Amino acid sequence: MALLKIATVGNPVLREVARELTREELASAETQRFIDDLVETMRDAQGAGLAANQVYRPVRVCAIEVKDNPRYPYKPNVPLTILVNPTVTPLDDETFLNFEGCLSVPNLRGEVPRYTRARVRAWDREGRELDFEVKGLTSGTYQHEVDHLDGKVFLDRVQDTRSLTTWADFDRHHKAAFVERAKALVARFGS
Ligand code: NI
Repeated sequence: MALLKIATVGNPVLREVARELTREELASAETQRFIDDLVETMRDAQGAGLAANQVYRPVRVCAIEVKDNPRYPYKPNVPLTILVNPTVTPLDDETFLNFEGCLSVPNLRGEVPRYTRARVRAWDREGRELDFEVKGLTSGTYQHEVDHLDGKVFLDRVQDTRSLTTWADFDRHHKAAFVERAKALVARFGS
């Protein structure tokens, strides 16, 4: 396995709409190796997720995993999930303000409205159909990753640019209030 280089904001690859994979492409040893590398890179960088175009490969594959993440200590754990050709559809109009960061946007966080409940449809890495609902903070994580595959970064969705903050200033000035909101979501949904 190998660690892949992560593109940072300004790199055109992050603005490409990633293309779908065929089942044949997905099954190839080369794609399966790539997925292993994507997961290894996400874990090494302590990301909660990583999309293929963030590592210079504009195909519709992303990984999500939260395991006691030190970057996001308030996020409930999410088992490793690989999504291929995913779509995320809101289940209703309710949104919450998530405080997001991104491996492709170094040292910046900001508030982003995300749907509280969404339906995710995708294939897993073996090409089996996935269809499940996500709620709360975890729903925000899924929406963030699928946005990447559509050429969007969280900055595009920040409505109040005054919420933008470095990570140190987040800890100093915004973390306590956000953690309270996050806890309320987790209490409501368990995720
Ligand atoms: Ni990101």
